[in-house]
Amino acid sequence: MAFPQSSTVHRKDLEEVAEIPSPGCRADLPLEAAPAEPLAAPRLRSILSAETVGLAKNFSGPDDLRLRDGHGRALTDLRLSVTDRCNYRCVYCRTGSEGAQFTELPIDSYLRMVRVFVSLGVEKVRLTGGEPLLRHGLLDLIREIARLRPAFSSAPLDIAITSNGHLLAAMAKDLKRAGLNRITVSMDAVDAETFSRITRIPKSFERVRDGIRAAQDAGLGTVKVNCVLLRGFNDSQIEAFAEFSRREQVIVRFIEFMPLEEGRSWSREMVVPMREILTRLSAVRPLVALPANHASETARRFTFDDGLGEIGIIAPVSEAFCGHCSRVRITSDGKLRTCLFSQSDHDLIGLMLRGATDDEMISWIRRVVQWKEARHHIGEPGFLKPSRSMVHIGG
Ligand code: 5AD
Ligand code: SF4
Repeated sequence: MAFPQSSTVHRKDLEEVAEIPSPGCRADLPLEAAPAEPLAAPRLRSILSAETVGLAKNFSGPDDLRLRDGHGRALTDLRLSVTDRCNYRCVYCRTGSEGAQFTELPIDSYLRMVRVFVSLGVEKVRLTGGEPLLRHGLLDLIREIARLRPAFSSAPLDIAITSNGHLLAAMAKDLKRAGLNRITVSMDAVDAETFSRITRIPKSFERVRDGIRAAQDAGLGTVKVNCVLLRGFNDSQIEAFAEFSRREQVIVRFIEFMPLEEGRSWSREMVVPMREILTRLSAVRPLVALPANHASETARRFTFDDGLGEIGIIAPVSEAFCGHCSRVRITSDGKLRTCLFSQSDHDLIGLMLRGATDDEMISWIRRVVQWKEARHHIGEPGFLKPSRSMVHIGG
């Protein structure tokens, strides 16, 4: 067992760590640098306690036992960052110099967190980073997550990943075999030179494009391609992305730039708003709106009049969608975040290291998410940047 299911843990200790909102948390974290070694399968299996998995499988109780925040939103979507290291230095994300790096946890700690969240009603787990494909032990983690079953749904757990695609061509088949269902690849230009200017890595476009093709060949479904539009950098690429979607049979999703970068580059003028994107795309071919796949879908979906290609537009700045938010996040150093724009995070790994049982983790999580933010305040007077940048949160 990585963490004893201790019955000797003192209530008072738990009350202290359960203080909400959490007190900023880094200094008090008793975390040694975590080894990033792959775990052998039997060891991983031993930490899948029958207690929670069994509870999840056999549960037939009322739906309101699902994890819900203080606004009544069911939290069904867990984003887990497994590293904040990245092999790219995209201009809208990184400063270009090394910058801060947070601790990574052992794979079995992430697995225990996921298992507890799945027992609370999480139906979709997205692995993020930094760049998650850099993380040793990732395939073991996916294999073990794939054994879990959602507590309140008969559908299998949906396991997705967001990657920059640089290492994808070599890993796509193994990811699929491990149990990954879907992949989103970040790609901010289809012109090779513009792409390298954004990632600051030469020849990156060809690698990522080949990664996307390999993922499709490996059966990872229709690949989603995320493009963050920045005025003056890649807004010239909108039409070319429409062609790319049609030609490569991928879903291209344009994302409005949010103030989540390491530096201080965000300004409203840099955001290319949804309306402008739609006007430009309509000039390529008439657009046809598609229905949302589910209520908490963040993208507005479109195809063209001949049904070829799919475009999503994610407009957190010009058309915020917080009202249906079903997300909760865990950072690579084991902190729970209730919103991308939270001003503090909550020390889940600290609780585990103090010996909390699964039940104690569950009560703590239920209390923390009561305080999930109603919405973000981007662009409003008094907006404060979040306590971490995107690369240290996980997308
Ligand atoms: N605004 C919008 N999207 C961002 N991403 C990274 N930083 C930002 C930002 N400041 C995107 C990445 C990736 C996804 C996880 O979020 O490009 O596709
Ligand atoms: Fe890395 Fe993604 Fe940030 Fe680019 S946007 S530097 S790929 S974490």
